[in-house]
Amino acid sequence: MFDIPDDEILDTALKHSFWTWSAQGKVSPIPVTRAKGVYFWDTDGKRYLDFNSMTMCVNIGHGDERVIDAIIEQAKALPYAAPGMATKPRAILGELLNEITPGNLDHFMFTLGGADANENAVKLARGYTGKHKILARYRSYHGASAGAMALTGDPRRNPWEPNLMPGVVHFLDPYRYRSTFHRTNPNICEADFTQDYLNHLEEIIQYEDPKTIAAILIESVTGTNGIIIPPEGYLQGVRELCNKYHILLIADEVMSGFGRTGKWFAVDHWGVVPDLMTMAKGLTSAYAPLGAVAMKPEIAAAYNDVVYQGGLTYTAHPISLAAAIANIKVMQEDHIIEHTHEMGPVLHRMLADLGEQHASIGEVRSIGLFGVIELVRDRHTREPFTPWNASSPEMAALRKSLLENGLYLYSHWHTLLIIPPLIITESQLAEGFDILDKALAATDRSVQK
Ligand SMILES: Cc1ncc(COP(=O)(O)O)c(C=O)c1O
Repeated sequence: MFDIPDDEILDTALKHSFWTWSAQGKVSPIPVTRAKGVYFWDTDGKRYLDFNSMTMCVNIGHGDERVIDAIIEQAKALPYAAPGMATKPRAILGELLNEITPGNLDHFMFTLGGADANENAVKLARGYTGKHKILARYRSYHGASAGAMALTGDPRRNPWEPNLMPGVVHFLDPYRYRSTFHRTNPNICEADFTQDYLNHLEEIIQYEDPKTIAAILIESVTGTNGIIIPPEGYLQGVRELCNKYHILLIADEVMSGFGRTGKWFAVDHWGVVPDLMTMAKGLTSAYAPLGAVAMKPEIAAAYNDVVYQGGLTYTAHPISLAAAIANIKVMQEDHIIEHTHEMGPVLHRMLADLGEQHASIGEVRSIGLFGVIELVRDRHTREPFTPWNASSPEMAALRKSLLENGLYLYSHWHTLLIIPPLIITESQLAEGFDILDKALAATDRSVQK
């Protein structure tokens, strides 16, 4: 067997890897060797508290033997089958997903991750409706393949323009803290705020012509772009607009699904049933790569006589399906959704307390174990700590300080995201908040007096 000592991992990996999302000359990867529960360790034996579930995906926590054993057993029994074959894990996972997904979503296409789940959802919507446009939001991330990049609204799309999938039109998010429509009226009541954003969407539908729009795709709760929680009535209103104009609703639950918000899926908070729903990440808690598109029976039935032109060699990979089954069973046996539901208010309170103590915090938001801290230079003007789509020395210093002190989290521009494994306890959350509290003292000093 090939092997290298731990202290050579970093240098050897740097020699031969091309890193995604990185300037190759500037990468500084953590050489990670093992992970358990809410922690992971590097080659020096340093322990990190994982406040990002690695890539917002290890929902049940690291190193769960039940999932690892299921993967081993499946690898011994049947490590691979052609995508057109029926396997035991495929049969069981379909049953399980049918139980936990909302409404009458009852057919599931398996993909390799979130991006291709979204691309397949778009293909299904276009094929089913015979229409081509897709409306998606600006503050969104839907994946990095060319079609998913076109759907993505945030600036990660821009370097690849204009050679992406055509037909996507973006609209604005109901983002109260930085609401375009309410700068002079920030205290508008929630119902009117919601209606303004629904009116904005309806106007765009009319301008684009509903006869050309196949689907509206939204992250049920926006993830990397800032844990934007829809105001009451918004998702229901989008659903109604879809019904009114014969447009399909696609919910991207890649990050918000599988317990993250304290329910199986974020749409469950508002009782909304999308026509198509995409998932990945928490579907296997990242023990193996897998995504899925859930669809209503009539969408599946539209392909009864027509061939669905799509699929990949690793579609419905048995090892990944086995991981998903074991992951869902762990979530059920250990009552992880209930635990997240209970920990949600705990995280909310810790965020609020932190916000009160630090002048550099403009706003905090959370739902379940899905939280964000917005750092501002000035609470009054809400000027973000970094300019639009950029970084700042203060944010870089903050990230460095958190990491040095053993807290791993994701920062996006001027925000810090808090997305820990869902098994986290109150004392482990407090451990992370203690590190945050100390590190933010430096950030506070840069705040305009
Ligand atoms: C909301 C959302 N959709 C889609 C994706 C893409 O998933 P993947 O990286 O598995 O392709 C992500 C990834 O972060 C995501 O957060």
